[in-house]
Amino acid sequence: METLLSLQEPRIPATAGRAAVLAEQFFIITHQSCELWLKQVGADLGAAADALTPPCDVDDLESGVEFLMRTGEILRVLHGQLLALEKLPVQYFAEFRPYLGTASGAQSAQFRQLARLLGSDQHPGSLYQAFVAAAAYHGRTVPEVCRQGVGAGALHRIAEALMDIGNGYWHWKVTHLALMSKMAGNRQGTGGTSGVDFLARRVTMPFAELRGLRSQLHDG
Ligand code: HEM
Repeated sequence: METLLSLQEPRIPATAGRAAVLAEQFFIITHQSCELWLKQVGADLGAAADALTPPCDVDDLESGVEFLMRTGEILRVLHGQLLALEKLPVQYFAEFRPYLGTASGAQSAQFRQLARLLGSDQHPGSLYQAFVAAAAYHGRTVPEVCRQGVGAGALHRIAEALMDIGNGYWHWKVTHLALMSKMAGNRQGTGGTSGVDFLARRVTMPFAELRGLRSQLHDG
């Protein structure tokens, strides 16, 4: 624990004043705790994908549901952290930002791993593929699971949990974009991107197939 608590070191000089130093600490803690949560998310989603990979009995599916639901909750925690960071006073952010150098959230390997697992609106990720395989193992297609609803049991709960995760991820991306706009307007990102434009292009809604199938239910 001591090692963990020794890793939050603001770079802005103490002469900038206590409020500026605490603002940078707030920024650092938000990023570091996000990485810790992503460690749990990566492990849970890996375990969920394993649980859904055939051969998978109903108990495996139920444990997959648990792992997926936990991720849904953690994404809400991560979203809440971004909302907290909206309270960062912009004048202090402007003061300590030069000390960040080229450091950026875009360097997060764990976040990239999450993106690969979830997929985007263009490409299904490995988690969705595991779900398709689990449904097939239980004699169903994903469209059938969507049509059956609660009658599909654990497979239905998995579909619902995936949608919850997909929307949680989307909420995070939109709120992060709004945070960047609030804190730095149209300035470039510290990681060298155009900032708001770059982030706006990267807002994706995972599980596009599920969204499409669910929307077909309206056609009767
Ligand atoms: C004032 C707060 C924040 C600002 C202004 C900000 C700004 C940015 C910008 C401009 C980028 C694009 C890359 C670049 O050029 O740097 C980026 C990417 C990213 N940031 Fe933040 N960020 C903030 C807070 C956070 C927090 C708290 C996290 C949580 C770990 C985070 C995680 C990420 C991730 C994962 C990416 C890559 C996004 C993607 O690939 O779509 N950021 N951020």
